[in-house]
Amino acid sequence: MRTLDLALIGFGGVNRALAKAIGTRPERFADHGLELRVVAITDLALGTLQAVDGIDLGRVLALPRGATFAEFPGGSATADSESVIRNGTAEVIVEATFTNPLDGEPALSHLRWAIASGKHVVTTNKGPIALHGAELTELALGHGVELRFEGTVMSGTPVLRFAREQLVGLEVLGVQGILNGTSNYVLGRREAGLTLEEAVAEAQSLGYAEADPTADIGGSDARLKVAILANEVLGAKLTPDQVVTVGIDAVSEDDLASAAREGRHWKLIGSAHREDDGRIVAEVRPRALAADHPLASISGATNAVTFLTDMLGPVTVSGPGAGRDETAYALIADILSIHATTAGLVRV
Ligand code: HSE
Repeated sequence: MRTLDLALIGFGGVNRALAKAIGTRPERFADHGLELRVVAITDLALGTLQAVDGIDLGRVLALPRGATFAEFPGGSATADSESVIRNGTAEVIVEATFTNPLDGEPALSHLRWAIASGKHVVTTNKGPIALHGAELTELALGHGVELRFEGTVMSGTPVLRFAREQLVGLEVLGVQGILNGTSNYVLGRREAGLTLEEAVAEAQSLGYAEADPTADIGGSDARLKVAILANEVLGAKLTPDQVVTVGIDAVSEDDLASAAREGRHWKLIGSAHREDDGRIVAEVRPRALAADHPLASISGATNAVTFLTDMLGPVTVSGPGAGRDETAYALIADILSIHATTAGLVRV
């Protein structure tokens, strides 16, 4: 059995769900010859906790609201992510802090410190990957470490892995996807007669929407995911600001009514394709899809991506695109993938 030591950077819903999965279902990992041990946690609200023999996750998860890691022996109320990442004993850094779509910080620094310190990285953070994915991948290659970010697109639904591993030998000509659960849910509820404001309030109460739902409604959340997909799947070198973006606030009552008369459904579609001159063009835009389009029947907060391929035509993957457990699963899959890739190269 190999023991892999993790440091959790950020202890919000996603890393909590990961900690719970590690603590309650160790056989999920033992079946792969792996034991996961969390040796450090840092969080802006909770502080820093380190234990080289492994943190008691049950105790951490039971911490009452308002308490900090200062209550633990050796714990502190101050978050010191740089020291944990650079000097700690973890072999894998698990980055799940908040998404910053403007400059990717502080997650970007977390990833750079980890890679430069020779540590493997898994992250669900869209900001640094959409803005600096190519640089980070290059950096990881140079330092001989693994960088995985499956959870940045469609949470745990393995869309990046699917493209890389299952579409082998096919030429992918383009991608089209419903990449934001909130906007898809809101469009469906507006079709059912709710106003935009009523539908957004519902999506917030169900936990789908970002803290600031304008990122969902205005399309900027989907824009980050389109940039990541285009770069990963089509080999583009796009930054999010090159993705033309129109949100679902542009869809009027009249637009909804005329689509309904024609049997069409409005969806916020993120897409990227290769032009004849080789350029990759990407955009996020509401489209009224005909009922037989592969994405027209994707309802609620579900996400889906259709890969347009040369020999199979459209191939569609659908599944959850948000949620704590769903996103934590992406971290689990990435950690298992790093285990498989590096088995025998690090401590066994
Ligand atoms: N607010 C996002 C959504 C969460 O609704 O899809 C996942 O990125």
